[in-house]
Amino acid sequence: MKVAVLGCGSVGSQVVRLLGEQADDLAARVGAPVELAGVAVRRLDAAREVDVPTELLTTDAAALVARDDIDLVIEVIGGIEPARSLILGAPEGGASVVTANKALLAEDGPTLFEAAEKAGRDLYYEAAVAGAIPILRPLRESLAGDKVTRVLGIVNGTTNFILDKMDTSGAGFADALEEAQALGYAEADPTADVEGFDAAAKAAILASLAFHSRVTAADVHREGIADVTAGDVRSARDMGSVVKLLAIAELRTGADGEEAVSVRVHPAMIPRSHPLASVREAYNAVFVESEAAGQLMFYGPGAGGSPTASAVLGDLVTVARNHRQGTRGMGESAYADRAVLPMGET
Ligand code: HSE
Repeated sequence: MKVAVLGCGSVGSQVVRLLGEQADDLAARVGAPVELAGVAVRRLDAAREVDVPTELLTTDAAALVARDDIDLVIEVIGGIEPARSLILGAPEGGASVVTANKALLAEDGPTLFEAAEKAGRDLYYEAAVAGAIPILRPLRESLAGDKVTRVLGIVNGTTNFILDKMDTSGAGFADALEEAQALGYAEADPTADVEGFDAAAKAAILASLAFHSRVTAADVHREGIADVTAGDVRSARDMGSVVKLLAIAELRTGADGEEAVSVRVHPAMIPRSHPLASVREAYNAVFVESEAAGQLMFYGPGAGGSPTASAVLGDLVTVARNHRQGTRGMGESAYADRAVLPMGET
């Protein structure tokens, strides 16, 4: 199996490292050698966390994707373009895709799923939500026979770190953010994390899978944590609660009496006795309620190069096994069972 990796930042470099270090195990698990065939980067001379043989590096991602010997394209560039064009180009060229791109999936997932399906190729994206935590596959497969009624998630590590810091040390938002930046959790421009855009994209993906619907980031009511004060956190503490940025997706009854999906992201007070209250630092957790299974919680590292690469490699093994067996993963383009409530009705 020949693999092209697009992007060699914190996730891409860990994917490349694991492909090298675990080559024998991966080959045994999928029944064929897994070969790194190329790595697309922005600059050939940039400093990287991993050594990549010079002959594998290219700045021409489109040409790498178009090569007819590539079986799998791993997209870990992020953002909308050029990621969208590259992901759409991969199945046309005969390759399946594994991506960690939550923003793109939340904006335009159905277009990507349809392109992959039309070409008879796979598109997997476990790494797009909550890093290493297996949550998309359980929603798509393990719980497919059940009826999920609600998903509550702490799906942004940076904001959880900030709120946890405010809770444990009494720090204000600005000081806690500065510490998150110093530790490398928050970006220099932390808008996507702090304003809830990152969590909203992940909420849209979770809701789409949990409720067999098509939810985009634009459907998600969103409020970030920039206005949460030390006083708010202290008051919550006095009431036996903790403030968390929650992604909440649930089934509601719409005005027409039909079940519809409601999705929102906002800071919420939760009782310290709730399992989500114990999620500390930059960890993530997703709490799922379903009719038959009851309550389940998925917990673990939700960000970072190595944990996210773990999820990418898991998808790689699934795609490779599908190829060997001549099967394909389930197509999300069929997901259109339930309506999504307009934002004003959430
Ligand atoms: N900025 C994200 C977070 C990275 O803090 O959770 C993982 O998507």
